[in-house]
Amino acid sequence: MKGYVKIFTYGCQMNDLDSLKMYSILSRNDWEPTVDTEQADIIILNTCSVRQKAYEKAMSNLGRLRKYKAGKPSLIIVFAGCVAQQEGLDIKARMPHVDIVLGTHQLHRINESILYVQEKKSTYVNTDFIDYISSMDVIPDKAFMVPGHRAYINIMQGCNNFCTYCIVPYVRGREISRDYKNILNEIDSHASSGVKEVFLLGQNVNSYNGGITFPELLKRINAIQGIERIRFTTSHPKDMSDSLIEAFGTLDKLCNHIHLPFQSGSNRVLKAMNRHYTRQSYFSLIERLRRSRPDMAFSADVMVGFPGETEDDYQQTIDLISEVRYDVLFSFKYSVRPGTKAAEWPDDISTEDKKQRLARLQDLQKTIMLENYQNRIGKIYDILVDGISSKHPDQVHGRTTQNTIVNFKGSPLLIGTTVKVCTTLANPNTFTGQMLK
Ligand code: 5AD
Ligand code: SF4
Repeated sequence: MKGYVKIFTYGCQMNDLDSLKMYSILSRNDWEPTVDTEQADIIILNTCSVRQKAYEKAMSNLGRLRKYKAGKPSLIIVFAGCVAQQEGLDIKARMPHVDIVLGTHQLHRINESILYVQEKKSTYVNTDFIDYISSMDVIPDKAFMVPGHRAYINIMQGCNNFCTYCIVPYVRGREISRDYKNILNEIDSHASSGVKEVFLLGQNVNSYNGGITFPELLKRINAIQGIERIRFTTSHPKDMSDSLIEAFGTLDKLCNHIHLPFQSGSNRVLKAMNRHYTRQSYFSLIERLRRSRPDMAFSADVMVGFPGETEDDYQQTIDLISEVRYDVLFSFKYSVRPGTKAAEWPDDISTEDKKQRLARLQDLQKTIMLENYQNRIGKIYDILVDGISSKHPDQVHGRTTQNTIVNFKGSPLLIGTTVKVCTTLANPNTFTGQMLK
């Protein structure tokens, strides 16, 4: 064993998966993962820059490590992911204690970059964009997957859409799809080691084109023995094809939940965001999805305070939320991302107004969620059991196919199995239930 490594992960599920892959690469090279920061010989910050807050967090955490490294000079500090991509070599001037800067296309080089630093005693910086992102084909070790029966699978990376507020196309690069044969091989191998659910990841999975179309990929995964559930994220409303909508009605393993970010309910704002759909076409999409799968559950991303957003624009966002009735909404205050198109416009909605708009929206969403959940009390659901409840050790928790969490009395031996549970109580974000014998 060469030593211990600890990774701090910020941001999205894609980053969680990237961290899992770095742990796997390093453990194959005799580095042991640890949860104890003081024990770590390597500290990796896997960063996110999608909103200003995330960017600032990455920077301040890196800043804090300067003092820490002064007391432990042998420590290797790796700055990785989206903020590393954005900053590149520049970070070294401000943060001279950084040893390695790894951009979003270079994470597969984590081991060789450490060898480089150890041998050459100098900094390693690589933020090059490449044609095929090798880390997409790194299969994480089962031992690091929690829970072990759910596998997150990278199917594409990057984005070509350039929504005017968004930094992703700049830090993740253009869309690159993973070869479908590698995806199916990975899922085959997961299935034979007991994985029950696959969660496909990409910035815009609907435009996947790694040899076959996205609906075709879903169809092939649906045929893999042992896999019981298929989920994916994220989808762009403008790229939801008829055959994808149809797939929700025909593929028995495809879960009846979709994450479909709308960002704003106002056509004027959607146009300024460069989203390429209207509130009317978004509604029609929701309707077609409900026709294909009547018990479809929805979640989405939305933001308030985009440049020029009036009270009327905001009201249209509120109306859209009341109409669609999402189970879960991820809601954000707009923040300027330097380098994007919207950064050229005045950030003219005051912090106070953004805060108020967000609070009103979140209050409404809380009510809707609870009402949605209350309508599902007394029903029986298939629950894939994920783990032991942290608050009640005699309870376990799992998810419905609609992606809602249910807590109920049960043995840890149930983890990884699917059981029938009747919902008895709706709480904010979860259900309490009772397992059927
Ligand atoms: N400000 C606020 N929220 C943003 N998002 C992306 N860029 C910004 C920004 N500049 C939100 C969007 C996106 C989610 C991942 O983050 O809602 O869907
Ligand atoms: Fe960002 Fe828009 Fe691409 Fe999503 S679709 S990653 S919001 S540019």
